[in-house]
Amino acid sequence: MLVFETIKEMHTWAGSARLSGKSTGFVPTMGALHEGHLSLVRLAREQNDLVSASIFVNPIQFNNPDDLKKYPRTLDRDLEMLSSAGCDVVFTPSVEEMYPEKVEKQYEFGDLATVMEGAFRPGHFNGVAVVVHRLFDIAVPTRAYFGEKDYQQLQIIKALVKSEKLEVEIIPCPISREADGLARSSRNERLSPQMRAAAPYIYMVLKEAKSLAAAHTAAQIVNFVTKKFEDHPLLKLEYFSIANADNLQAVSGVIKPDTYGFIAVFAGDIRLIDNIRLI
Ligand code: PAF
Repeated sequence: MLVFETIKEMHTWAGSARLSGKSTGFVPTMGALHEGHLSLVRLAREQNDLVSASIFVNPIQFNNPDDLKKYPRTLDRDLEMLSSAGCDVVFTPSVEEMYPEKVEKQYEFGDLATVMEGAFRPGHFNGVAVVVHRLFDIAVPTRAYFGEKDYQQLQIIKALVKSEKLEVEIIPCPISREADGLARSSRNERLSPQMRAAAPYIYMVLKEAKSLAAAHTAAQIVNFVTKKFEDHPLLKLEYFSIANADNLQAVSGVIKPDTYGFIAVFAGDIRLIDNIRLI
């Protein structure tokens, strides 16, 4: 497996892949890899001639400096995992390589970026869009793979590809879960044993919400989920929103097909997100 730290090397590799008519599946990551990332790499392996990945903890998408400082960094282990999963090349740029100058670019995603994560993490999606756009320009992938745990991010990236007319196919990948239901996330590594034991409660509540969806209104289900967290001794609900799968705008009244429940919860100082299709 090749490992490139410079834009020039990565772009040259990607350019020759294109010239030789080979398709490339690209998996952008911030490292601290887990089985969820590897499932993306395996799917990319199945669907493309070549597989590339990036490991870059993108400072401009963190609205909380402490979260950035504490974000797990496990480069050697990540490279071993990518190599065993069949990745051909990994791009591991420094912050200076990616951002030699102050980033001024501001994308406009309208209502898609102002709800849920956008409301609680100001600037987050602009930072994601800036880095993903740059990574696409550098790695020139045929297809790019994103997990549905970050469902809103996935919708933002689809909007970015559309508005910037980028020639890459976005492949959504199902949420990867631990045996107890907790959605896999790099942040799970930072949970204390006590919080780790409590965290599967999030998916349990989401499944209960789903079981109520056909016979209850959105407001009733939001109430139900809010109550389930009110008395919880460890987990603090930040939001639970019932929203349309495409435009992510909140749904009221009867729940129609293509509606999801989206949740953000604090387990101590670790923020976890998850979602479920309700109908
Ligand atoms: O989902 C992530 O890991 C990041 O937001 C991404 C897409 C790699 C951009 O930094």
